[in-house]
Amino acid sequence: MTRHFLRDDDLTPDEQAEVLALAAEVKAAPFANRPLEGPRGVGVIFDKNSTRTRFSFEMGIAQLGGHAVVVDGTTTQLGRDETIEDTGRVLSRYVDAIVWRTFGHDRLEAMASSATVPVVNALSDTFHPCQVLADLQTIIEHRGRTAGLSMTYLGDGANNMAHSLALGGVTAGMHVTISAPQGFEPAPEVVTATEARARETGGSVRVVTDPDKAAEGADVLVTDTWTSMGQETDGKDRHGPFLPYQINEDLLARADANAIVLHCLPAHRGEEITDAVIDGPASVVLDEAENRLHAQKALLLWLLRK
Ligand code: CP
Ligand code: NVA
Repeated sequence: MTRHFLRDDDLTPDEQAEVLALAAEVKAAPFANRPLEGPRGVGVIFDKNSTRTRFSFEMGIAQLGGHAVVVDGTTTQLGRDETIEDTGRVLSRYVDAIVWRTFGHDRLEAMASSATVPVVNALSDTFHPCQVLADLQTIIEHRGRTAGLSMTYLGDGANNMAHSLALGGVTAGMHVTISAPQGFEPAPEVVTATEARARETGGSVRVVTDPDKAAEGADVLVTDTWTSMGQETDGKDRHGPFLPYQINEDLLARADANAIVLHCLPAHRGEEITDAVIDGPASVVLDEAENRLHAQKALLLWLLRK
């Protein structure tokens, strides 16, 4: 059966560990694997802006010997009235995998239901699982492991990063805390799925409104924009309620003395994170951004072997 990677729990804990081990190998020997030699193709479609995802997938696919067909979704027939299902069936005749950044998560599910090649979520409104593979790789590099470590995410608890950090972090055996203002808590369905994962791995998930309590003793602090792509005009106050959740030096001081700080980027400096923290010694955001390349190459290698 064709495997897809639409959300973090599409990989079992063992499979996630395999992909992360492969990511370390790929980083050490970037040009050792060329399964897409030919070249075979990967379709990479963007319905939203991107810098890191665009560059890392296109370069990664080239380094695997393949060719990336990178398109703005609005310029395809998807942007008119062709169905997602017909698109999935047709693209499967041209390429060996489909990578898609889009809005509703159901759109990715529709693509996966019709494609006969792996479909990879390059960010939806609900999940950003490729980012979290890179985040986990970065945590392993800096803290030696994931299992048993505590990770606190502060900000919009209902966005794609909060959901993927919870689900992906717990899959990796982490103790994940999501700290968000009232009305911005994670989706109950994602919390339920994360709790189910936690029972398998020994990890845990909790939602804590108080940011100071949430940050206390954390091994990893993470934040993300308060306004995700597509939320610019949703009518919610995405500033005032979030101010206490900013990662600044005071909040960082509450975390473990060796805590590292992650941010998927792009950052809104002075909002969710201060210059002093993102440019300071605890920040690993550039390693995190680089690891998008290695983690995604590993994921493609793994999916293409299935
Ligand atoms: N972190 C991330 O996905 O960045 P881009 O939006 O630039 O791809
Ligand atoms: N939550 C952000 C992540 C950007 C990489 C967004 O969806 O815009």
